[in-house]
Amino acid sequence: MVSQRSVGRKDKPVTDFPILGGKRILLVIAGGIAAYKSLVLIRRLREHGALVRVILTPAGERFVTPLSVAALSEDKVYQELFSLTDESEMGHIRLSRAADLVVVAPATADLLAKMAAGLADDLASTALLATDKPILVAPAMNALMWEHPATQTNIGILTGRGVRRIGPNAGELACGESGPGRMAEPEEILGAIVSHFEMAAPDRGPLPLSGRRALVTSGPTIEPIDPVRYITNRSSGRQGHAIARALARLGAQTILVTGPTAEPEPPGVQVIRIETAMQMLAACQGALPADIVVCAAAVADWRVKGIADHKLKKDKGETPLLELVENPDILATLSRPGPHRPGLVVGFAAETQHVVEHAIRKLARKGCDWIVANDVGAGTGTFGGDRNTVHILRACHGGEPTVEDWPELSKVSVGERLAVAISDHVLAGASRS
Ligand code: CTP
Repeated sequence: MVSQRSVGRKDKPVTDFPILGGKRILLVIAGGIAAYKSLVLIRRLREHGALVRVILTPAGERFVTPLSVAALSEDKVYQELFSLTDESEMGHIRLSRAADLVVVAPATADLLAKMAAGLADDLASTALLATDKPILVAPAMNALMWEHPATQTNIGILTGRGVRRIGPNAGELACGESGPGRMAEPEEILGAIVSHFEMAAPDRGPLPLSGRRALVTSGPTIEPIDPVRYITNRSSGRQGHAIARALARLGAQTILVTGPTAEPEPPGVQVIRIETAMQMLAACQGALPADIVVCAAAVADWRVKGIADHKLKKDKGETPLLELVENPDILATLSRPGPHRPGLVVGFAAETQHVVEHAIRKLARKGCDWIVANDVGAGTGTFGGDRNTVHILRACHGGEPTVEDWPELSKVSVGERLAVAISDHVLAGASRS
């Protein structure tokens, strides 16, 4: 957990993340309104004992001053590629290699494009090209720039090369529009940096799920009626996101396919955003093969037949009747026997009455291995809330499923416990074979 304590400069550093102690972070601040958040990030990293060296691009300097960056990082700020002093004191090659991790925040569309193309015409792009260290980017830009195929291609190229990404989040943007493009919050970037070092820590030995691929679905799906209306449900995505985060923390290469949600992207997880059930199915099938699948999404059971291309108007004098068609069952599809069936498929059962009995029938009907059953009835606060009371049902070939009742826990704890149970199961299977 990230500490919320505020710490004055003279206070002792907060040590919730001892793993950051002594880590050398090279932070590249490019030009964007979100650059002010990078000042908070520097402060947080310093509080946890990390050493922060900053490259500030000329555009970045228009948003934050070198003086504030230098004061917070307690180091010189690097700005010029061709500065003789810097070249003699520390050339750009050494600058980029003397770090344990390079963080680009905010990562603008322009800088991402330069990185993807391998351009090196200023200090930031040159250091990024010359580094042999892992890179984490926190993109920030207008939503249309983020969604533009050029930016998406560049991000695809970079993640394909192993660059990690945190955000962007959806919400109100500085340009007055809204959508995906807000830089991740400093605490989220800090979390991603901590996860990076936790996963890379050599003394921890291989993590239990290292080398395994996990696929998690999360959030609601939305099914359009016309260009402005849709059918959806109350899922927040909180539980699915917590599971993806916990699996990644145990070392699984984790892909999260999620419907629209306000949840921050879990660090160290590849996130694929979709809207409809059909898109979720296609994204899941595209993400296979996987060793572990957890279907936590609240998939809309039906979609509208014949989505109107124009907004339905009231002035026709008739109330429209929506004809619905059933959506494919993603969990049942992924559970189907076959050579590519994942080794462990876990579903959820959202029930409002007779929770365990209904879940037992669902386990058999869907063909999955485990079901996490939860009561989502009115008054439980499960949908949209932070807590969850679940029962874990495990299919038993040729017999009744076993049922384990868990106490009421936070959704984060349910995610962590479930990830540990999954890893125990996977490791037990590996030691039997
Ligand atoms: N699920 C799915 N695809 C669907 C419907 C559900 O993958 N089209 C998955 C959910 O992600 C969850 C499980 O199936 O893991 C059970 O979902 P739930 O909503 O509880 O049940 P339904 O299958 O919708 O059945 P019912 O509405 O009768 O309870």
